[in-house]
Amino acid sequence: MSKQSTSVKKPPVKAGERVIFIVTAIFLTLAIIAFGFMEYVRHHSNKPMFAVTTDYQFSPEAKHGMDLFFRRGNCTDCHRALNSGTNMGPGTDLDGEGTKRGMTWIYNFLRMPEKTYPGPTLDHGPGKAAAFVATWNAKDLHAVAAFLAALTAKSGSAVSPIPPSERSPFVDSMVKKFAPASWKTGKYKDMRKNPNVANKNALPTQGGKQ
Ligand code: HEC
Repeated sequence: MSKQSTSVKKPPVKAGERVIFIVTAIFLTLAIIAFGFMEYVRHHSNKPMFAVTTDYQFSPEAKHGMDLFFRRGNCTDCHRALNSGTNMGPGTDLDGEGTKRGMTWIYNFLRMPEKTYPGPTLDHGPGKAAAFVATWNAKDLHAVAAFLAALTAKSGSAVSPIPPSERSPFVDSMVKKFAPASWKTGKYKDMRKNPNVANKNALPTQGGKQ
């Protein structure tokens, strides 16, 4: 039996294919060079690439609270802080908590969740999944509250309830065009000009001691 040649002749590369191949190769090479250059600049620059909008200053008590939060408390089953843990939905991402609420509010919430929260809680109230938190001793709860109160975020951060400090010409023009007339009568004040904005922005306590 004579052996038949099985080699299939490849069709010649068309000019258009050649151009696409070359363009792709140039594009990939430039992308790799640009990435390398960016990484080099990033490593050698002492300026942060993005504005730093979170700020943590932990007292020794707050550090202890952090330990309780991450190790003993099972808090991270439902919560996230310092970008670590789970985020089960609204109210459970605690980054920026110290900007949103005051220390007293947090402490009261941990001890008396249903009395402090503006409505019934999902998990913290008596008999619910996180009811164990309120049974901790006052010292530990105070430490956890100190930790959470230290999780502050500057205005404009995704976890800050306070809008960015600078003006946005785009937002201004949208407000001018579309906002209801009542917005422009001076009835609403710029919350950023209020020095107590962080505390004022905390939801009112209901029955909880201040
Ligand atoms: C089983 C899930 C779960 C666990 C465990 C849990 N939490 Fe919560 N936590 C929630 C939910 C849900 C909310 C929102 C309020 C609600 O509906 O209970 C909340 C709210 C809070 C708030 C108020 C946030 C705000 O500003 O409205 C604080 C503070 C808090 N938790 C701290 C803790 C700490 C500290 C621990 C651990 C010792 C803990 N939680 C454990 C589910 C949980």
